[in-house]
Amino acid sequence: MASLKVLVIGGGIAGPAVTYWLSRIGAHVTLIERAADIRASGQQVDLRGQGVPLMKKMGMEAAVRAVSVHEPGMQLIDRSGRTKAFFPVAESGSGKQGFTSEFEIMRGDLVKILYSLTENNTNVRHLFDTTIKSFTQDDESNPNGKVHVSFQDGHEEDFDLVIGADGTGSRTRKLMLGEDAPDPRKSMGGYIGYYSVPSNPGDSDRGTFCHLTGARIIGTRKDIPELTRVYMMFRGKRPALDEALLSGDQAEVKKTLAELYQGGGWECDRFMDALQHAPEANDLYITPIQEVHIPKGQWSKGRVALLGDAAHCHTAGGYGCAWGLVGAYVLAGEIASLLKKDASSTTAAVVQGAKNYEEKFRPIATSMHGGYEWFEDLLAPKTSIGIWCLHTFAKVASYMKLGEMSGLDSTTSKWQLPNYPELD
Ligand SMILES: Cc1cc2nc3c(=O)[nH]c(=O)nc-3n(C[C@H](O)[C@H](O)[C@H](O)COP(=O)(O)OP(=O)(O)OC[C@H]3O[C@@H](n4cnc5c(N)ncnc54)[C@H](O)[C@@H]3O)c2cc1C
Ligand SMILES: *[C@@H]1O[C@H](CO)[C@@H](O)[C@H](O)[C@H]1NC(C)=O
Repeated sequence: MASLKVLVIGGGIAGPAVTYWLSRIGAHVTLIERAADIRASGQQVDLRGQGVPLMKKMGMEAAVRAVSVHEPGMQLIDRSGRTKAFFPVAESGSGKQGFTSEFEIMRGDLVKILYSLTENNTNVRHLFDTTIKSFTQDDESNPNGKVHVSFQDGHEEDFDLVIGADGTGSRTRKLMLGEDAPDPRKSMGGYIGYYSVPSNPGDSDRGTFCHLTGARIIGTRKDIPELTRVYMMFRGKRPALDEALLSGDQAEVKKTLAELYQGGGWECDRFMDALQHAPEANDLYITPIQEVHIPKGQWSKGRVALLGDAAHCHTAGGYGCAWGLVGAYVLAGEIASLLKKDASSTTAAVVQGAKNYEEKFRPIATSMHGGYEWFEDLLAPKTSIGIWCLHTFAKVASYMKLGEMSGLDSTTSKWQLPNYPELD
């Protein structure tokens, strides 16, 4: 097979995954990351849906199991800390997964495992502290045309394929769509944040979530004994928070959040005190809930393609990592199968392969976008009556094991992972 020269921008989940698959067909891959080292931050993420068989296909199962977080399940509690409903983890074999996945893993551990897959591969270069400035590309009529990339450090290099796996705020996307194209990020009117606090003996090892009026949720998860991870989710517009986030003033961000939860009941006061004073809480990460909506047919342009959150982010969906892995596999697979049929034109394989990838995967990756306001009203109610309804519904749902059916609609959950023998 002709050897492709590929640039992958972004060393999160999707970037290292596509690097792995492309290296399997002998491609020479340069994986660049803007941060100075593997960005192993982030909290608990879970592998769901088709991400699970794919993770196994990548030979990562043992490594993932070795570091996975054994959360016994998820519970809803009230403001006094009383359990209202409990959804136990669905253990292996059943195929179905509850709200807690069988494969809960710290995001950083997953990123490290993905990197290790190509760490000693001589065809792969991992460059940190590196990003690009701009690119141009040859006409598509040129069967072996290139993308001409200018890097931030001033050097230039040509590639057969450039993949933007640089997350929700993707700069590759901006360069590809054009500076004048509308920003495809859509704010869904809510936020998700998390940080660590020193643990108390009473902190549950269950994922624990407490609903407060005003569409605010506070919760905890626990992956190690010393720390408790606090999760905040809340809906609505918060101009003061937006302003603090924009200014980058971390103390102001923390103050705004504390004001939102102080006096909320349960452990709110302890958590808000820690947020403002405990050094452990300096890992605070907070993001608006966003979706990336790119017009159909524009996930790629010529030899430049978008992958992962850069293409289809859905902050609150819970499938970010799974779809990052699956998209990487489909993109690499589509290109590999075209190259195998006809290796005479890298342009044809890359341009058409990227189009096929969007056609196959876009309906899956975006199946949960938009139109779920009723769902949010149920999951993050504004009033105490709404919270009472949610607790009642959740209690019934937990008896009926509805948690095991959560997540995907039936078309998406029945979707078969394509098989690409070229990648085996
Ligand atoms: C609270 C919370 C909970 C979540 N829970 C889950 C969950 O349970 N399950 C799940 O599947 N997902 C979850 N996610 C989402 C998940 O983390 C992402 O969706 C997933 O990691 C997507 O991977 P990605 O590689 O596309 O992007 P990212 O992981 O964002 O990686 C992008 C990388 O590109 C780098 N980069 C950015 N710009 C540049 C540039 N210009 N040049 C070079 N490098 C650049 C960044 O530093 C980063 O390393 C959660 C997210 C949040 C906020
Ligand atoms: C890569 O090579 C180094 C040095 O030989 C070794 O320590 C490391 O375990 C190797 N990594 C993998 C994933 O095999």
